[in-house]
Amino acid sequence: ERESTVSITVVGASGDLAKKKIFPALFALYYEDCLPKHFTIFGYARSKMTDAELRTMVSKTLTCRIDKRENCSEKMEQFLNRCFYHSGQYDSEQNFAELDKKLKEHEGGRLPNRLFYLSIPPNIFIDVVKSASQSSSSKDGWTRVIVEKPFGRDSQSSAALTRGLKQYLEEDQIFRIDHYLGKELVENLSILRFSNLVFEPLWSRQYIRNVQLIFSEDFGTEGRGGYFDNYGIIRDIMQNHLLQILALFAMETPVSMDAEDIRNEKVKVLRSMKPLQLEDVVIGQYKSHTKGGVTYPGYTDDKTVPKGSLTPTFAAAALFIDNARWDGVPFLMKAGKALHTRRTEIRVQFRHVPGNLYKRSFGTDLDRATNELVIRVQPNEAIYLKINNKIPGLGMRLDRSNLNLLYASRYSKEIPDAYERLLLDAIEGERRLFIRSDELDAAWELFTPLLRELEEKKIAPELYPYGSRGPVGAHYLAANYNVRWGDLSASETT
Ligand code: BG6
Repeated sequence: ERESTVSITVVGASGDLAKKKIFPALFALYYEDCLPKHFTIFGYARSKMTDAELRTMVSKTLTCRIDKRENCSEKMEQFLNRCFYHSGQYDSEQNFAELDKKLKEHEGGRLPNRLFYLSIPPNIFIDVVKSASQSSSSKDGWTRVIVEKPFGRDSQSSAALTRGLKQYLEEDQIFRIDHYLGKELVENLSILRFSNLVFEPLWSRQYIRNVQLIFSEDFGTEGRGGYFDNYGIIRDIMQNHLLQILALFAMETPVSMDAEDIRNEKVKVLRSMKPLQLEDVVIGQYKSHTKGGVTYPGYTDDKTVPKGSLTPTFAAAALFIDNARWDGVPFLMKAGKALHTRRTEIRVQFRHVPGNLYKRSFGTDLDRATNELVIRVQPNEAIYLKINNKIPGLGMRLDRSNLNLLYASRYSKEIPDAYERLLLDAIEGERRLFIRSDELDAAWELFTPLLRELEEKKIAPELYPYGSRGPVGAHYLAANYNVRWGDLSASETT
């Protein structure tokens, strides 16, 4: 059988994403012997650079995992020797034809498979796809293209982008990344649900009172204001990362773990949801704050952000799924920048135990006595379940304790970065963790009317101090549904 080879072209090789995530992930895969025997990596960008210069640039981005210092520099050397550079314009078929020639030389007559990673701004996606598909796609192997958000900024622009891509590519060649799907605990959601008898039977309105999806970062948009201001936190985090987690959390059992079966279920649950209503949304924006003699800048202090910008850096929302399983259960999302902590988690709050025998041991605050399952996606990955327990000793006093699966104590292996898993999947043609176009459409349909209304009505965000817990409006929003944010309860604040 003819041997095959993979050429990976990183378009936009000198950009931030390439340096921070893509090259390091490719090296980690190489280190783990996960890349195919024959592979070549090409950086493609406009600036002039030699192969040696690219290698120097890439080498600065590579690290070895703590437990793997041995022969790391040797491996790096070998890896860098397989990295090359081609300088070209993004819309030049000619330049991509030159790339094609170089790729062929490296492929050396093996069956050529080609992966393009578009690490570039979306306004040049189509230019690149057009030129690359016409001049440098594989003739007899596969050609795949990885693209990353923003996929438009509403239903219309996203659909236009999809149409543009599909002029040159088939749907199964397009790998839309949502890097949250590559995170270990997000991937684990289905295992938790579908392979443990104790969870799946509880996974419905009958036992679950509400679900919370919480993303917070303890830094602002520093330096990314130019990109961010045109999108805002709802498009940056909610419409993709948090909604994807929600879909995996709430979908029905798929027929199998095959990509199409899973994505069919995700689309189904997204289509069962109601578009967001303005009254179910709170937006915020961080303002400057001085603490311990240090002044932290407000969002609009950033030079790249227009003065008076109304772009939200925080949002909280209540979403509902109109199906038999989830009717009436609020799914609360909260996402924000420049908050007091960096954390992403899923919180499942269960209903009260009917006729709770131990009411008195908890006083009047029955909320404290409900079970809560927390899946902490990052940092310090963990899954823990809050249960009620008797405090040992004579007498009858109860407390809440955690059954705790802390990854760092249970597993000694370091958790791979999301990009490693996703790149490997793209090379192997595994589409389970990539977003299909109908999924993307369904996601935009939920958010587009709200986003338009916020912009048309020029709704002003509630200001919150840099480093705080966010606007108080989020608290009232949750209270409308009789919910308290789990991350703000006394036992959780760190
Ligand atoms: C990106 C957003 O998709 O995700 C950023 O554009 C955000 O604004 C980032 O900071 C968070 O990713 P992670 O993996 O660091 O949690």
